Amino acid sequence: MAGPGGRRSTNASQSMRGSRIVFAIVIGILLGCIFAILYPHGLFSGDFYSASQLQSRRRSKSDVQIGSASCESTERVSMLKADIADLSNSNDELKMQVRDLTKKLQAAEQKNGQAEQQVVVVGEPQKAGLFGTVKGIRINPTVLPDETVNPRLAKILEKIAVRKELIVALANSNVKAMLEVSVSSIKKSGISNYLVVALDDGIVDFCKENDVPFYMRDPDEGIDSVAKSGTNHAVSGLKFRILREFLQLGYSVLLSDVDIVYLQNPFDHIYRDSDVESMSDGHDNMTAYGYNDVFDEPAMGWARYAHTMRIWVYNSGFFYLRPTISAIELLDRVADRLSHPPPAWDQAVFNEELFFPSHPGYIGLHASRRTMDRYLFMNSKALFKEVRKDTNLKELKPVIVHVNYHPDKLPRMKAVVDFYFNGKQDALDPFPDGSD
Ligand SMILES: *[C@@H]1O[C@H](CO)[C@@H](O)[C@H](O)[C@H]1NC(C)=O
Repeated sequence: MAGPGGRRSTNASQSMRGSRIVFAIVIGILLGCIFAILYPHGLFSGDFYSASQLQSRRRSKSDVQIGSASCESTERVSMLKADIADLSNSNDELKMQVRDLTKKLQAAEQKNGQAEQQVVVVGEPQKAGLFGTVKGIRINPTVLPDETVNPRLAKILEKIAVRKELIVALANSNVKAMLEVSVSSIKKSGISNYLVVALDDGIVDFCKENDVPFYMRDPDEGIDSVAKSGTNHAVSGLKFRILREFLQLGYSVLLSDVDIVYLQNPFDHIYRDSDVESMSDGHDNMTAYGYNDVFDEPAMGWARYAHTMRIWVYNSGFFYLRPTISAIELLDRVADRLSHPPPAWDQAVFNEELFFPSHPGYIGLHASRRTMDRYLFMNSKALFKEVRKDTNLKELKPVIVHVNYHPDKLPRMKAVVDFYFNGKQDALDPFPDGSD
């Protein structure tokens, strides 16, 4: 906070700056008059326009082109003088204008939020019930399905989806070996509602040979060059765009990366009460479900402890979306940010959009979220650091295991299959907890 001395010197420097501005404008006008006489058709109108943008918004665009042929008019000159007089007060005025605009911006943001809410909160207003009995809205209404978005995909989904739900996995030939393990585990778990989005011909061939339901986008749908170039992160951006159509068609989607082994049918363990239901990168209850992390700054004395909220990120390689406006907005926001600089990791963007609240200059997403059970939807850190060493946890059968924490994905996936499906008790033993 600036003391009184600081404030005074700021004012002095501002008024000095102000008189410099006035001086510059007067010089400018004089030059303008000279050039207007020399070049009556106007060379400098653009320059003067930009200088004049500083002046009050009352003046119209035509007033501003003082450099061209208008100096002769004495009326105009006196108007300009008046404006210059105005300008000497304009420091304060400008500050007020900025303050006004900031207020208007905030009001607009607030209105925006209210308008959105009004769209979603339908139905009669109701009185709040008794203490302890009220529940806010978590389950947003689903969108009206729109088949015109993609009739070909609509036909495929009609055949494959069960209760308007399905697993969707994107794959190109770089990940074919993992896709093979993942798809065979899906089949072994008795799951029929899954679809591979084939990003190249190699995957189309694989799907045909192995009787795997697939969907290939039309090559003229624009974004497929990304799919073929195949870097992991480029494909990550693509998946948010592709999923949009599934939701628009009215289907719930369980997005699945290919480094995932299925051991049970996940649809038996989905709650369907939130826009987004996701597995966690957390490694214990606190990190997976959220906790109070205390930041300590001893120099603050009495107030040395600041409490913070922490939660390990949701895994953007395995999440369930209901077909709601909020879920679609999430996809749009993530895809949009990934398509612009600065380059960002899709999982970080996914989490930031999902969790950061509205604040001045930013309207946050209002989506409901649920963290999946971390032992049923298990990441590979939990499996290799904890579960395989614990005699009780070893008995538990997860729904999926996601080999997200380890680079040697394929051999670990095969070991997971051996351990849980083939009863090989020592299948997980050769692997270190982390990567070497
Ligand atoms: C972790 O959370 C689960 C589910 O809420 C609970 O059953 C379990 O007791 C918790 N474990 C610990 C160590 O707190």
